[in-house]
Amino acid sequence: MRTVYVNGEYLPEDEAKVSIFDRGFVFADGVYEVTSVLDGKLIAFDGHAERLKRSLSELDMQEPMTTEDLLEIHRELVARNEITDGLVYLQVTRGNPGDRDFAFPDPNTVKPTVVLFTQSKPGMAESPAAKVGMKVISIPDIRWHRRDIKTVQLLYPSMGKMMAKAAGADDAWMVEDGKVTEGTSNNAYIVKGGKIITRELSEDILHGITRAAVLAYAKEAQMVVEERAFTVDEAKGADEAFITSASAFVMPVVEIDGVTLGDGKPGRVATRLRELYLEESLKAAV
Ligand code: PDD
Repeated sequence: MRTVYVNGEYLPEDEAKVSIFDRGFVFADGVYEVTSVLDGKLIAFDGHAERLKRSLSELDMQEPMTTEDLLEIHRELVARNEITDGLVYLQVTRGNPGDRDFAFPDPNTVKPTVVLFTQSKPGMAESPAAKVGMKVISIPDIRWHRRDIKTVQLLYPSMGKMMAKAAGADDAWMVEDGKVTEGTSNNAYIVKGGKIITRELSEDILHGITRAAVLAYAKEAQMVVEERAFTVDEAKGADEAFITSASAFVMPVVEIDGVTLGDGKPGRVATRLRELYLEESLKAAV
């Protein structure tokens, strides 16, 4: 049985409890982070900790603890659960006001709820999916307009995954005003004429920690990066495509709305970036 962390305690998962009045449960009033673990080490922990701070501050939530304390809990859970490859999930909500009320509770009396747990995924970096590539469909992006805040409001992304599954695909790319915003749980990229194209940062998308690292490694390797929005039609005409996220790293996309990209196999740029990302982020892992 897993050991999880809830508000200062390490507990067996079946003893961990959060109130039914918790703002996270009743209002989806919470934020989260997913940090991957490879070889027992945390990938890009600092980036995730920084983004967590930003998400909390944008929602006027207090930071429940220091980054050092957070790191210690991450490491403790990885150790206690003997995670070699996998994930650490972290969620912070506005806590339990003891009643249902739309107004935010007073942060001086109601403390945030902090939950962390691990998911073991042995061999995560050698995912066979990376050798085959993913199929995506496009769907309208009907999420709220602060997608730069990593909130736990994930109903529409879940519906998007279900729509993809129903269409025989692996994921969905969301489209707003004719342009792709991002995948349901990842950032989206196309490659045309050797150029890597991905939407610029704004409130329209999550500022992916993997995105930042991959673009930095790409630039260091003299690859050309263009940060701008692209249409689904442009994507269908691209040489290759891929997505990035903490859990998928760099994953090639080989089909968009039934249209095969290139020869239908993972592209060279995506494959190279995956190798580069895994290599470099493992070196920097903590
Ligand atoms: N999702 N865009 C969205 C909407 C996401 O949910 C995620 C991450 C990303 C990629 O961000 P990062 O590279 O920092 O993981 C982009 C996580 C993995 C999840 O919900 O499981």
